[in-house]
Amino acid sequence: MLFLLSLLIPLATTRITPYDLSCSIHNGTHNVYSSTAASCQNVLSDEYCNIAYIPADPYSPVVAEGNDADRPLLCYTLGTATPSPLNQDARSAAIANCPKTCGYCCLTNAYKCQNLLYPRVNCKNVSKAMCLSPLWRQILAEDCPATCGFCDLNGCIDLVVGCENDPSICHTVGLEDFVNQNCRMTCNRCSVGTQQPCRGRR
Ligand SMILES: *[C@@H]1O[C@H](CO)[C@@H](O)[C@H](O)[C@H]1NC(C)=O
Ligand SMILES: *[C@@H]1O[C@H](CO)[C@@H](O)[C@H](O)[C@H]1NC(C)=O
Repeated sequence: MLFLLSLLIPLATTRITPYDLSCSIHNGTHNVYSSTAASCQNVLSDEYCNIAYIPADPYSPVVAEGNDADRPLLCYTLGTATPSPLNQDARSAAIANCPKTCGYCCLTNAYKCQNLLYPRVNCKNVSKAMCLSPLWRQILAEDCPATCGFCDLNGCIDLVVGCENDPSICHTVGLEDFVNQNCRMTCNRCSVGTQQPCRGRR
């Protein structure tokens, strides 16, 4: 029995298929999802993605930073066995539609750029909380865009989170100063002069 178990254990240690290790790191013993594997929103609804992309192992946890959940098969293959060979169409569709469910956030346009060569802060030490902080966001959009997923903003960012939830605030009388300062991306105010001007990148 012990002998059988020891035969099974090595199989259990490669749950992120070796055919597609994207957005994963080796933590010393296992391949686990990186900090930017699931750090975005699905483009289609979570409801859809969670039904369309089901892990082969029904007991697998959902893909999250630091775990080694089964990447749902349809994310990267048309096969039905684990592992199955890569299919580029399946993978492209997953990146475009359900990147969070598939652990592909790091492959989306938001992460597809380089951090500055000499950033003002050490991008490796930037936390998720910093990426959300109004005090940090402009600096991080300019210097560490690939760490925070700010690549497609061209250095122009909403300083606060949530502007995009209600774009009508862009035209609300009395909020002009607020949106000029804080909702520049959402309200298209990137060229409005502020204390922290947008430095266009790339
Ligand atoms: C590596 O990841 C595995 C799977 O999530 C976990 O069980 C293990 O404790 C981790 N090892 C280290 C050194 O963090
Ligand atoms: C930055 O992160 C590295 C590795 O996680 C750590 O060793 C180092 O102490 C951190 N530096 C600061 C200034 O927090």
